[in-house]
Amino acid sequence: MSPHAFSRRLLDRLATAHSVVIFTGAGMSADSGVPTFRGAEGIWSRFKPEELATMHAFLRNPQLVWEWYAHRRAIISTVQPNAGHRALVALERLVARVSIVTQNIDNLHRRAGSTTVYELHGNIERNYCAKCGSPHDVGVDTASEGVPRCGHCGGLIRPDVVWFGEMLPEDEWDAAVRAAGGADVCLSVGTSGVVYPAASIPVIARRAGAFHADVNPEPGPLADGADEFIRGPAAEVLPDLVRRLEELRTPSILTAPEEGH
Ligand code: OAD
Repeated sequence: MSPHAFSRRLLDRLATAHSVVIFTGAGMSADSGVPTFRGAEGIWSRFKPEELATMHAFLRNPQLVWEWYAHRRAIISTVQPNAGHRALVALERLVARVSIVTQNIDNLHRRAGSTTVYELHGNIERNYCAKCGSPHDVGVDTASEGVPRCGHCGGLIRPDVVWFGEMLPEDEWDAAVRAAGGADVCLSVGTSGVVYPAASIPVIARRAGAFHADVNPEPGPLADGADEFIRGPAAEVLPDLVRRLEELRTPSILTAPEEGH
């Protein structure tokens, strides 16, 4: 694969950045084999969000919703972080503060080794009681056993993900807004940018003066407002970008001081 063309402005801003915020969506994990939500092959082309990803749906048919999340948890447990996730880990060696703000619930950024990850839509590996809020551990293969019940109050256990109509986790959101407001560069990666409030993260970063580049095989709403659009899959663009930055930071042999002087 040929290297991507990155603007001088983006490379200069990244090379001097103290703080970078990366805003990721389902496309980030597409190359790991996790299906995206929108588009011809997306999850929402086959299922209706209101039948699966709302509290109302869960109360109406807990077993169906639980099985659907158990199925997705099983898929996610078999996949691995891709070269894009790993490139973002490598970026931490080059920039003082790298904050990942993700809409993904698949835990792949943390599994890859990123240290600062804000999960705006929750994490499918965690569960809690819908009645009393206590956290609850469940294994991967739980679909056949029915919806687990809380050991404290007997309430139904639900995945710790944000459903339509629910608030984002306040601490994660506040931290994400702070990271965006203090960023020198914002990269949005693999998101259609249509679900709010999450999609305002790049806007907050831009308003605070950050350079914003959008990475996606197809331009979408976020590309319109961005300073730069980089066309391509995350697993190719991000390793390329980090490689270019590493080259920029390696002192050229021509400018090295001569021995003995
Ligand atoms: P979408 O499915 O809406 O968008 C996925 C984006 O990834 C699209 O813009 C694709 O063009 C792009 N894409 C596909 N393959 C890619 C690749 N290999 N590399 C980079 N980009 C690629 O997913 P999100 O934007 O994450 O919310 O969706 C946002 C929210 O909507 C999700 O968090 C979820 C969903 O409903 C909740 O469940 C609350």
